[in-house]
Parts: sequence; C-alpha cells; structure tokens
Amino acid sequence: MSGRRLRVCIVGASGKLGQYMVRHCLDRGYEVVGVCRAQSVEKLTEFRDRIRIVPGHTNDADVIREAVSGCDGVLTVLVPWGVDGYSTGTAQAVLDHAEPGARLIFSCGWHISMDGKDRYPLKLRLLVPVFGWVARLFRFADIGDQEEAARRIFASETRWTVVRGSDLEEGDSEGLPVWSRHVGDPILASNLTRRIDFALFMVHALTDDSLVHEAPAIVSCRSASALAHAETA
Ligand SMILES: NC(=O)c1ccc[n+]([C@@H]2O[C@H](COP(=O)([O-])OP(=O)(O)OC[C@H]3O[C@@H](n4cnc5c(N)ncnc54)[C@H](OP(=O)(O)O)[C@@H]3O)[C@@H](O)[C@H]2O)c1
Repeated sequence: MSGRRLRVCIVGASGKLGQYMVRHCLDRGYEVVGVCRAQSVEKLTEFRDRIRIVPGHTNDADVIREAVSGCDGVLTVLVPWGVDGYSTGTAQAVLDHAEPGARLIFSCGWHISMDGKDRYPLKLRLLVPVFGWVARLFRFADIGDQEEAARRIFASETRWTVVRGSDLEEGDSEGLPVWSRHVGDPILASNLTRRIDFALFMVHALTDDSLVHEAPAIVSCRSASALAHAETA
C-alpha cells in the first residue's frame, strides 16, 4: 500500500468490537469510514468529527458499495443476529463491492471451521447446537447464517482473512493476541481474549500479508496457554 494514509471501512462500526476497531484505526492515523444501522449512528457520536459515517443496513449492497469505494481495507463484523441472512448478505456485499486487491478482514467465533480440523472443547460442542436451536426457535439469531457467510468468504478469490475470536472479556489491552490454525491446538487452551485486543488483531491483519487466506483462531498473548507455549518454544 502506498505512502498516503490508509483508508479503512469498518462494517458494523457501532458495536463493541467495531468501536474498538475505530479507535485502533484512528490511533494509527488511518482514514475511517464506518457503516452501521441508522438507529445506531448516535453510538459513534464521539468519533463523528474524525470519521465518515454511512448509515444503513450492512447487507444492503448499495450502502456497502458507497462505503467501501476507495478503501484499501475493509473490517467486517459478522454477527448471527436476525434470521434473514444478515451475515451472509453483509459478507457477500463486501466481497462483491470492495476494491480489487483490498484487504478484507472478517470477525467471527471459534465455532466457524475452515477445514473441519478444529477439535472443540466440550463446552463449545454443547453450547453451539443448544444456542443455535434456541436462537432459531425464538427467531433472534441464526448461526447457520454466519457459517454460510464464512463458506462464501473461504471460496472467494479476494484477499480475505477470517479472524476467529475466543471467549471475550472487557479490560485494558494485553497486547496483540497469538493465533493458531486450529481450535484444539494447546496454545489456544485458555480460550480468552480481551475484546480490545480482538479488535487490535483485526486491524493488525490489514497490513500482515502472511494472514491472507488464513482463519486464525486467537487467544490473549498473556493467557496461561499462550505463556506456556512461549516458554516451551
Ligand atoms: N460475544 C462473544 O463472546 C464473542 C466471542 C467470539 C467471537 N465473537 C465475534 O465478535 C464479533 C463481535 O461480537 P460482539 O458480541 O462483541 O458484538 P458487538 O461488537 O457488540 O457487535 C454486535 C453487532 O451486531 C449488530 N446487531 C445487533 N443486533 C442486530 C440485529 N438484530 N440485526 C443486525 N445487526 C445487529 C450491532 O449493530 P448495532 O450497533 O446497529 O446494534 C453490532 O454491529 C462477532 O463477529 C462475533 O461473532 C464474539
């Protein structure tokens, strides 16, 4: 990418992860375009003089086309909320309309698997189907939608990275998380990351080409499993 300021679009900027990503991007001097639902624009009030906000649904192709125009990178929060294919529509709009060669970084959870080689802890093996069933029953979320979104990203020839977050907690930054290709790898055993650092990893991925076409599962660099791994290494 050239010497000019990087221009980054954040799709889902008003959520908790989105706001952390806005902050990290501004700290790095990036130009920021944020997309969020119209009813959530006020959540971005503190940034309104420093970023351009494009209000609208993130699965609306016209909204995304306008927002990603001229952007070197797009950070997209994939969420399973709603039962009308919101995640899939959002991912597809970004894949279709981002600038050729742009870095596309998507967020999701450990439950998404790129190659089926993840070995999940019992808690996640039980929780995902139970949450999925209850969510579908009460029509507030659809995990299958996030899975379909991920399948489309994995099949795309764009320069994507799918960042898979562990369980999250709030708190001050502990530094850039460490990552591994498969859930079940010992380095990830602690299954905990600060949300601010999940955002840090998403923003870091914009400029780390070694992460192109990877689906890193992340964990805090200060977690017991990461420290134990560093010691043995
Ligand atoms: N929460 C966890 O423990 C966890 C763990 C691992 C990975 N992750 C991943 O982290 C990312 C962020 O998740 P988060 O839990 O931290 O949430 P978050 O950052 O607060 O983001 C929630 C997003 O969902 C949007 N949203 C909420 N209700 C919606 C609806 N009915 N229809 C459409 N959009 C809706 C929000 O938009 P508005 O601002 O407009 O409401 C916001 O952009 C996701 O990709 C998630 O898969 C989360």
